[in-house]
Amino acid sequence: MLKMHMGGPSSEGRSIHWHADPANRIEYVTAGENRQTIIYVKATDAKGQVKEYRADNATDQAIRSGARRTMDCVDCHNTVGHPISPTAERMVDRAIAAGEVSAKLPFARREGVRLITASYASQDDAVNAIDRGVRDFYAKQPGADAQAVARAATALQDVYRRNVFPSMKVTWSSYPENKGHITSPGCTRCHDDAHKAKDGSAINGDCEYCHKEIQK
Ligand code: HEC
Ligand code: HEC
Ligand code: HEC
Repeated sequence: MLKMHMGGPSSEGRSIHWHADPANRIEYVTAGENRQTIIYVKATDAKGQVKEYRADNATDQAIRSGARRTMDCVDCHNTVGHPISPTAERMVDRAIAAGEVSAKLPFARREGVRLITASYASQDDAVNAIDRGVRDFYAKQPGADAQAVARAATALQDVYRRNVFPSMKVTWSSYPENKGHITSPGCTRCHDDAHKAKDGSAINGDCEYCHKEIQK
Protein backbone atom coordinates (compact mmCIF):
# COMPACT_ATOMS: atom_id res chain seq x y z
CA MET A 1 0.00 0.00 0.00
CA LEU A 2 1.17 3.54 -0.74
CA LYS A 3 0.70 6.57 1.45
CA MET A 4 0.42 9.74 -0.65
CA HIS A 5 2.14 12.90 0.51
CA MET A 6 -0.92 15.08 0.24
CA GLY A 7 0.19 17.72 2.72
CA GLY A 8 -1.04 18.44 6.23
CA PRO A 9 0.51 17.60 9.59
CA SER A 10 1.39 13.98 8.89
CA SER A 11 3.22 14.67 5.63
CA GLU A 12 6.94 14.57 5.03
CA GLY A 13 7.11 18.32 4.43
CA ARG A 14 6.22 17.94 0.78
CA SER A 15 2.76 18.17 -0.61
CA ILE A 16 1.19 17.11 -3.87
CA HIS A 17 -1.23 20.02 -3.60
CA TRP A 18 1.70 22.45 -3.52
CA HIS A 19 1.22 22.91 -7.31
CA ALA A 20 -2.27 24.25 -6.75
CA ASP A 21 -1.36 26.51 -3.83
CA PRO A 22 -2.12 30.02 -5.10
CA ALA A 23 1.19 31.21 -3.61
CA ASN A 24 3.08 29.13 -6.19
CA ARG A 25 2.73 29.19 -9.92
CA ILE A 26 3.69 26.40 -12.30
CA GLU A 27 3.55 27.14 -15.99
CA TYR A 28 4.33 24.62 -18.65
CA VAL A 29 4.64 24.21 -22.39
CA THR A 30 3.52 21.11 -24.25
CA ALA A 31 4.27 19.68 -27.67
CA GLY A 32 1.84 17.40 -29.48
CA GLU A 33 -1.61 16.21 -28.48
CA ASN A 34 -3.44 15.95 -25.17
CA ARG A 35 -0.70 17.77 -23.20
CA GLN A 36 1.16 14.50 -22.85
CA THR A 37 4.62 15.79 -23.78
CA ILE A 38 5.90 18.57 -21.55
CA ILE A 39 9.03 20.28 -22.83
CA TYR A 40 9.36 23.27 -20.50
CA VAL A 41 8.31 24.08 -16.92
CA LYS A 42 8.56 27.37 -15.07
CA ALA A 43 8.02 27.37 -11.31
CA THR A 44 7.54 30.63 -9.41
CA ASP A 45 7.46 30.17 -5.65
CA ALA A 46 5.82 32.28 -2.91
CA LYS A 47 8.91 34.51 -2.68
CA GLY A 48 8.82 35.20 -6.41
CA GLN A 49 11.85 33.01 -7.11
CA VAL A 50 11.73 31.57 -10.61
CA LYS A 51 13.14 28.25 -11.73
CA GLU A 52 12.93 26.97 -15.28
CA TYR A 53 13.27 23.35 -16.35
CA ARG A 54 13.67 22.00 -19.86
CA ALA A 55 13.33 18.57 -21.36
CA ASP A 56 16.57 17.29 -22.93
CA ASN A 57 15.75 17.92 -26.55
CA ALA A 58 13.61 21.07 -26.18
CA THR A 59 14.67 23.89 -28.50
CA ASP A 60 13.95 27.60 -27.90
CA GLN A 61 11.79 27.55 -31.01
CA ALA A 62 9.67 24.63 -29.75
CA ILE A 63 9.24 26.32 -26.37
CA ARG A 64 8.12 29.58 -28.00
CA SER A 65 5.65 27.90 -30.32
CA GLY A 66 4.23 25.22 -27.96
CA ALA A 67 0.95 25.56 -26.06
CA ARG A 68 1.46 27.28 -22.69
CA ARG A 69 -0.64 26.70 -19.56
CA THR A 70 -0.68 27.55 -15.89
CA MET A 71 -1.22 24.46 -13.81
CA ASP A 72 -4.47 24.15 -11.85
CA CYS A 73 -6.66 21.42 -10.42
CA VAL A 74 -7.69 19.89 -13.73
CA ASP A 75 -4.13 19.32 -14.84
CA CYS A 76 -4.14 16.39 -12.44
CA HIS A 77 -7.87 15.86 -11.87
CA ASN A 78 -8.48 15.68 -15.60
CA THR A 79 -11.06 12.93 -15.66
CA VAL A 80 -13.46 14.21 -12.99
CA GLY A 81 -17.15 13.78 -13.65
CA HIS A 82 -16.90 11.34 -16.46
CA PRO A 83 -13.82 9.25 -15.97
CA ILE A 84 -13.25 7.44 -19.24
CA SER A 85 -11.00 4.57 -18.30
CA PRO A 86 -7.63 4.83 -19.97
CA THR A 87 -7.39 1.09 -20.47
CA ALA A 88 -9.78 -1.69 -21.29
CA GLU A 89 -7.57 -4.13 -19.37
CA ARG A 90 -8.12 -2.23 -16.14
CA MET A 91 -11.89 -2.22 -16.57
CA VAL A 92 -12.00 -5.94 -17.30
CA ASP A 93 -9.78 -6.61 -14.27
CA ARG A 94 -12.20 -4.65 -12.15
CA ALA A 95 -15.20 -6.57 -13.47
CA ILE A 96 -13.37 -9.81 -12.71
CA ALA A 97 -12.43 -8.63 -9.20
CA ALA A 98 -16.07 -7.69 -8.58
CA GLY A 99 -17.21 -11.13 -9.73
CA GLU A 100 -19.27 -9.69 -12.58
CA VAL A 101 -17.08 -11.55 -15.03
CA SER A 102 -16.41 -14.94 -13.48
CA ALA A 103 -12.74 -15.84 -13.15
CA LYS A 104 -13.85 -19.45 -13.73
CA LEU A 105 -14.67 -18.74 -17.37
CA PRO A 106 -11.64 -19.77 -19.41
CA PHE A 107 -9.86 -16.85 -21.17
CA ALA A 108 -12.37 -14.39 -19.66
CA ARG A 109 -9.87 -11.53 -19.48
CA ARG A 110 -8.42 -12.04 -22.95
CA GLU A 111 -11.83 -12.41 -24.60
CA GLY A 112 -13.34 -9.52 -22.64
CA VAL A 113 -10.55 -7.16 -23.65
CA ARG A 114 -10.75 -8.34 -27.25
CA LEU A 115 -14.50 -7.69 -27.47
CA ILE A 116 -14.54 -4.28 -25.82
CA THR A 117 -11.57 -2.95 -27.78
CA ALA A 118 -12.83 -4.07 -31.22
CA SER A 119 -14.05 -1.30 -33.47
CA TYR A 120 -17.82 -0.85 -33.85
CA ALA A 121 -19.90 1.69 -35.77
CA SER A 122 -22.21 2.54 -32.88
CA GLN A 123 -22.98 1.62 -29.28
CA ASP A 124 -25.93 -0.48 -30.45
CA ASP A 125 -23.75 -2.47 -32.83
CA ALA A 126 -21.18 -2.91 -30.09
CA VAL A 127 -23.65 -4.11 -27.49
CA ASN A 128 -25.07 -6.71 -29.89
CA ALA A 129 -21.65 -7.86 -31.08
CA ILE A 130 -20.30 -8.18 -27.54
CA ASP A 131 -23.24 -10.35 -26.48
CA ARG A 132 -22.87 -12.54 -29.58
CA GLY A 133 -19.08 -12.67 -29.18
CA VAL A 134 -19.22 -13.88 -25.58
CA ARG A 135 -21.91 -16.50 -26.31
CA ASP A 136 -20.19 -17.79 -29.48
CA PHE A 137 -16.86 -18.11 -27.73
CA TYR A 138 -18.22 -20.01 -24.72
CA ALA A 139 -20.44 -22.23 -26.86
CA LYS A 140 -17.15 -23.80 -27.95
CA GLN A 141 -15.77 -24.14 -24.40
CA PRO A 142 -17.10 -27.34 -22.86
CA GLY A 143 -18.64 -26.89 -19.43
CA ALA A 144 -18.81 -23.09 -19.37
CA ASP A 145 -21.56 -22.12 -16.94
CA ALA A 146 -24.46 -20.60 -18.90
CA GLN A 147 -25.39 -18.14 -16.18
CA ALA A 148 -21.79 -16.95 -15.82
CA VAL A 149 -21.64 -16.46 -19.59
CA ALA A 150 -24.79 -14.33 -19.59
CA ARG A 151 -23.52 -12.26 -16.67
CA ALA A 152 -20.16 -11.71 -18.31
CA ALA A 153 -21.85 -10.52 -21.50
CA THR A 154 -23.93 -7.99 -19.56
CA ALA A 155 -20.93 -6.76 -17.57
CA LEU A 156 -18.84 -6.27 -20.71
CA GLN A 157 -21.67 -4.44 -22.43
CA ASP A 158 -21.92 -2.09 -19.44
CA VAL A 159 -18.19 -1.46 -19.43
CA TYR A 160 -18.30 -0.64 -23.12
CA ARG A 161 -21.31 1.66 -22.81
CA ARG A 162 -19.69 3.67 -20.04
CA ASN A 163 -16.38 4.16 -21.80
CA VAL A 164 -16.66 4.10 -25.57
CA PHE A 165 -18.73 6.50 -27.66
CA PRO A 166 -18.15 5.76 -31.35
CA SER A 167 -20.27 8.69 -32.57
CA MET A 168 -18.04 11.09 -30.60
CA LYS A 169 -14.83 9.23 -31.42
CA VAL A 170 -14.20 8.73 -27.71
CA THR A 171 -12.53 5.46 -26.84
CA TRP A 172 -9.96 3.86 -24.54
CA SER A 173 -7.04 6.25 -23.98
CA SER A 174 -8.82 9.24 -25.57
CA TYR A 175 -8.36 10.90 -22.19
CA PRO A 176 -5.15 9.82 -20.52
CA GLU A 177 -5.29 9.89 -16.71
CA ASN A 178 -2.88 12.56 -15.38
CA LYS A 179 -3.30 12.01 -11.64
CA GLY A 180 -0.82 9.14 -11.28
CA HIS A 181 1.54 7.41 -13.69
CA ILE A 182 0.28 3.85 -14.07
CA THR A 183 -1.79 3.89 -17.25
CA SER A 184 -0.20 6.99 -18.81
CA PRO A 185 2.79 9.23 -18.00
CA GLY A 186 0.82 11.59 -15.69
CA CYS A 187 3.13 13.01 -13.00
CA THR A 188 6.18 11.67 -14.81
CA ARG A 189 5.54 14.04 -17.70
CA CYS A 190 7.56 16.38 -15.43
CA HIS A 191 8.87 14.22 -12.56
CA ASP A 192 11.30 12.09 -14.55
CA ASP A 193 14.72 13.42 -13.46
CA ALA A 194 15.16 14.58 -17.06
CA HIS A 195 13.54 18.03 -16.95
CA LYS A 196 16.62 20.00 -15.93
CA ALA A 197 17.35 23.50 -14.65
CA LYS A 198 20.51 25.49 -15.48
CA ASP A 199 22.03 24.52 -12.10
CA GLY A 200 21.78 20.85 -13.06
CA SER A 201 18.91 20.00 -10.70
CA ALA A 202 15.88 18.19 -12.11
CA ILE A 203 12.20 17.81 -11.31
CA ASN A 204 12.33 14.96 -8.85
CA GLY A 205 11.44 11.45 -10.02
CA ASP A 206 12.29 9.48 -6.85
CA CYS A 207 9.58 7.01 -5.91
CA GLU A 208 9.46 8.22 -2.31
CA TYR A 209 9.17 11.84 -3.35
CA CYS A 210 5.40 11.49 -3.70
CA HIS A 211 4.46 8.37 -1.79
CA LYS A 212 5.87 5.95 0.67
CA GLU A 213 5.42 2.23 0.89
CA ILE A 214 3.71 1.26 4.10
CA GLN A 215 3.54 -2.21 5.61
CA LYS A 216 0.13 -3.48 6.49
C1 HEC B 1 3.95 20.49 -15.29
C2 HEC B 1 4.96 19.78 -14.55
C3 HEC B 1 4.54 18.99 -13.34
C4 HEC B 1 3.59 17.98 -13.26
C5 HEC B 1 2.71 17.43 -14.36
C6 HEC B 1 3.62 17.50 -11.89
N1 HEC B 1 4.54 18.21 -11.17
FE1 HEC B 1 4.98 17.97 -9.20
N2 HEC B 1 6.30 19.52 -9.28
C7 HEC B 1 6.67 20.19 -10.43
C8 HEC B 1 7.72 21.15 -10.11
C9 HEC B 1 8.43 22.08 -11.10
C10 HEC B 1 7.95 21.05 -8.73
C11 HEC B 1 8.96 21.81 -7.90
C12 HEC B 1 10.35 21.33 -8.18
C13 HEC B 1 10.69 20.07 -7.47
O1 HEC B 1 10.40 19.98 -6.26
O2 HEC B 1 11.28 19.14 -8.07
C14 HEC B 1 7.04 20.01 -8.23
C15 HEC B 1 6.95 19.63 -6.90
C16 HEC B 1 6.23 18.54 -6.44
C17 HEC B 1 6.18 18.09 -5.07
C18 HEC B 1 6.88 18.76 -3.90
C19 HEC B 1 6.07 19.97 -3.46
C20 HEC B 1 6.55 20.58 -2.17
O3 HEC B 1 5.74 20.63 -1.22
O4 HEC B 1 7.71 20.96 -2.10
C21 HEC B 1 5.38 16.97 -5.04
C22 HEC B 1 5.04 16.13 -3.83
C23 HEC B 1 4.92 16.72 -6.39
N3 HEC B 1 5.44 17.71 -7.22
C24 HEC B 1 4.07 15.69 -6.79
C25 HEC B 1 3.47 15.58 -8.04
C26 HEC B 1 2.46 14.59 -8.38
C27 HEC B 1 1.96 13.52 -7.45
C28 HEC B 1 2.11 14.81 -9.68
C29 HEC B 1 1.09 14.05 -10.51
C30 HEC B 1 -0.22 13.91 -9.91
C31 HEC B 1 2.90 15.94 -10.14
N4 HEC B 1 3.69 16.38 -9.12
C32 HEC B 1 2.82 16.48 -11.41
C33 HEC B 1 6.14 20.01 -11.68
C34 HEC B 1 5.14 19.11 -12.01
C1 HEC C 1 -0.14 17.92 -8.98
C2 HEC C 1 -1.40 17.28 -9.21
C3 HEC C 1 -2.62 17.78 -8.46
C4 HEC C 1 -3.16 19.05 -8.49
C5 HEC C 1 -2.65 20.26 -9.26
C6 HEC C 1 -4.34 19.00 -7.67
N1 HEC C 1 -4.50 17.74 -7.15
FE1 HEC C 1 -5.99 17.12 -5.90
N2 HEC C 1 -5.11 15.29 -5.73
C7 HEC C 1 -3.99 14.88 -6.42
C8 HEC C 1 -3.67 13.53 -6.04
C9 HEC C 1 -2.52 12.71 -6.57
C10 HEC C 1 -4.64 13.13 -5.09
C11 HEC C 1 -4.70 11.80 -4.32
C12 HEC C 1 -5.16 10.67 -5.15
C13 HEC C 1 -6.64 10.55 -5.22
O1 HEC C 1 -7.32 10.92 -4.25
O2 HEC C 1 -7.14 10.05 -6.23
C14 HEC C 1 -5.54 14.26 -4.92
C15 HEC C 1 -6.66 14.27 -4.08
C16 HEC C 1 -7.58 15.30 -4.03
C17 HEC C 1 -8.79 15.26 -3.26
C18 HEC C 1 -9.24 14.10 -2.40
C19 HEC C 1 -8.95 14.38 -0.93
C20 HEC C 1 -7.67 13.83 -0.45
O3 HEC C 1 -6.96 14.56 0.28
O4 HEC C 1 -7.34 12.66 -0.74
C21 HEC C 1 -9.44 16.45 -3.48
C22 HEC C 1 -10.76 16.89 -2.88
C23 HEC C 1 -8.62 17.24 -4.37
N3 HEC C 1 -7.49 16.50 -4.69
C24 HEC C 1 -8.94 18.48 -4.83
C25 HEC C 1 -8.10 19.30 -5.59
C26 HEC C 1 -8.39 20.70 -5.94
C27 HEC C 1 -9.66 21.44 -5.59
C28 HEC C 1 -7.32 21.14 -6.66
C29 HEC C 1 -7.08 22.56 -7.22
C30 HEC C 1 -7.14 23.62 -6.24
C31 HEC C 1 -6.38 20.02 -6.76
N4 HEC C 1 -6.89 18.94 -6.10
C32 HEC C 1 -5.18 20.08 -7.44
C33 HEC C 1 -3.27 15.63 -7.32
C34 HEC C 1 -3.47 16.96 -7.61
C1 HEC D 1 5.72 12.81 -8.93
C2 HEC D 1 5.12 11.94 -7.97
C3 HEC D 1 5.35 10.45 -8.10
C4 HEC D 1 6.55 9.80 -8.32
C5 HEC D 1 7.93 10.41 -8.52
C6 HEC D 1 6.25 8.39 -8.32
N1 HEC D 1 4.90 8.18 -8.10
FE1 HEC D 1 3.92 6.40 -7.98
N2 HEC D 1 2.14 7.35 -7.82
C7 HEC D 1 1.98 8.71 -7.71
C8 HEC D 1 0.56 9.01 -7.57
C9 HEC D 1 -0.04 10.38 -7.42
C10 HEC D 1 -0.11 7.75 -7.58
C11 HEC D 1 -1.60 7.47 -7.33
C12 HEC D 1 -2.52 7.70 -8.45
C13 HEC D 1 -3.98 7.50 -8.01
O1 HEC D 1 -4.24 6.99 -6.93
O2 HEC D 1 -4.83 7.87 -8.78
C14 HEC D 1 0.91 6.74 -7.74
C15 HEC D 1 0.66 5.36 -7.81
C16 HEC D 1 1.62 4.40 -7.84
C17 HEC D 1 1.35 2.97 -7.83
C18 HEC D 1 -0.02 2.33 -7.84
C19 HEC D 1 -0.51 2.09 -6.48
C20 HEC D 1 -1.92 1.56 -6.49
O3 HEC D 1 -2.34 1.12 -5.42
O4 HEC D 1 -2.59 1.62 -7.53
C21 HEC D 1 2.56 2.33 -7.84
C22 HEC D 1 2.81 0.84 -7.81
C23 HEC D 1 3.60 3.35 -7.86
N3 HEC D 1 2.98 4.60 -7.86
C24 HEC D 1 4.95 3.11 -7.89
C25 HEC D 1 5.94 4.07 -8.10
C26 HEC D 1 7.35 3.78 -8.30
C27 HEC D 1 7.95 2.39 -8.28
C28 HEC D 1 7.99 4.98 -8.49
C29 HEC D 1 9.46 5.24 -8.79
C30 HEC D 1 9.97 4.61 -9.98
C31 HEC D 1 6.96 6.01 -8.40
N4 HEC D 1 5.75 5.41 -8.17
C32 HEC D 1 7.20 7.37 -8.52
C33 HEC D 1 2.98 9.67 -7.75
C34 HEC D 1 4.32 9.43 -7.97
